[in-house]
Amino acid sequence: MGTKLSRVTFLPLAFILSLTLLSRLVYAVGSLEHHRNGTIRLPVTAERQLQMPAGAPLRIALFADLHFGENAWTQWGPLQDVNSIKVMNKVLEDETPDFVIYLGDVITANNIMIQNASLYWDQALSPTRNKGIPWASVFGNHDDAYFEWPLEWFSAPGIPQIHCPPTTSSVEEECSFKGTGRLELMQNEIKHNALSFSRNGPRDLWPSVSNYVLQVSSHDDPQSPVAFLFFFDSGGGSYPEVISNRQAEWFRRKAEEINPDSRVPEIVFWHIPSKAYNKVAPKFGIHKPCVGSINKERVAAQEDEFGIMDILVKRTSVKAIFVGHNHGLDWCCPYKKLWLCYARHTGYGGYGNWPRGARIVEISSNPFSLRSWIRMEDGHTHSEIILS
Ligand SMILES: *[C@@H]1O[C@H](CO)[C@@H](O)[C@H](O)[C@H]1NC(C)=O
Ligand SMILES: *[C@@H]1O[C@H](CO)[C@@H](O)[C@H](O)[C@H]1NC(C)=O
Repeated sequence: MGTKLSRVTFLPLAFILSLTLLSRLVYAVGSLEHHRNGTIRLPVTAERQLQMPAGAPLRIALFADLHFGENAWTQWGPLQDVNSIKVMNKVLEDETPDFVIYLGDVITANNIMIQNASLYWDQALSPTRNKGIPWASVFGNHDDAYFEWPLEWFSAPGIPQIHCPPTTSSVEEECSFKGTGRLELMQNEIKHNALSFSRNGPRDLWPSVSNYVLQVSSHDDPQSPVAFLFFFDSGGGSYPEVISNRQAEWFRRKAEEINPDSRVPEIVFWHIPSKAYNKVAPKFGIHKPCVGSINKERVAAQEDEFGIMDILVKRTSVKAIFVGHNHGLDWCCPYKKLWLCYARHTGYGGYGNWPRGARIVEISSNPFSLRSWIRMEDGHTHSEIILS
């Protein structure tokens, strides 16, 4: 992480520098911890920081279930992607968020025939990148799936004329039907985008990849955390739809390390709802204390549970979990001490024709508050709620 600078070489340097210079340097390195006893310690892992805007809350837009590359061999498919770009542009113009979270199912890899699905991934990022807004992404169950041959291709009309978009690779490999792995998708995103805050996560958590944490820092003091945003890979595609015991342990250790007294609020983002969503799901319609506008299908939860919810519920600092996956659900409901929220289906790809939109999450500091609402493609907003 570029923090190999040893304490021995760093300390004499610190004495020479003026206090202003030092604080600037500390900010640049981004992850130095300044302890009360005056020593400076380089932590093992450097959390990336997102600074609060001056005198305003931090506004985050959640883009969920974009499903780029769906039915890429038809005329309908690419048109859906154009429509999804329009939704994102509209939300970005109406809300002018400071940050965007791509909440999984960015692409429909099981429909993508080309060797390098990053081409579609990249299209999905383009509206945010073009506006110079930083973002982070997590994986959904469709992002690294293998190509699934449509059954009808084996009927009389046969396999349609396939147009594989040109890639950088050799001609024979343009249509590979193989899928692009999580590591490769993420590496391509990170390598080519200075605005990306995404990470491949600790190696020992693989094959789950998008596990990382961002610190939201106070505007005046970059050392002072306002909130921690935890991102998880909830699986699916090339492996089961679960959050593993190892990921749960990673969270527990990480949270204790960076937020030992649970003083700083923590907010969690992943793609597939956990089973707890079933327990709080409204039966018919949406009634208080739940807030939302569509309740049109059953919760499609992860396959199994290996401890993550127990840990999250026990930590008083965890305020809310945000997921995508169910395109026909957009509610927030309380579960014990925290909120379980759905985003809103943003993409034209994927099942369902409910109007498209994006959940907005807003973080204020001094005092801390967490607000959320949904911004629709047609410009109106609804389902506003105070989560903390
Ligand atoms: C300073 O504080 C750090 C962290 O609390 C601790 O690890 C270190 O031993 C302390 N150093 C001294 C000289 O007290
Ligand atoms: C895959 O696509 C991405 C984005 O378009 C590109 O940056 C990367 O170099 C490509 N990789 C290969 C192996 O073609």
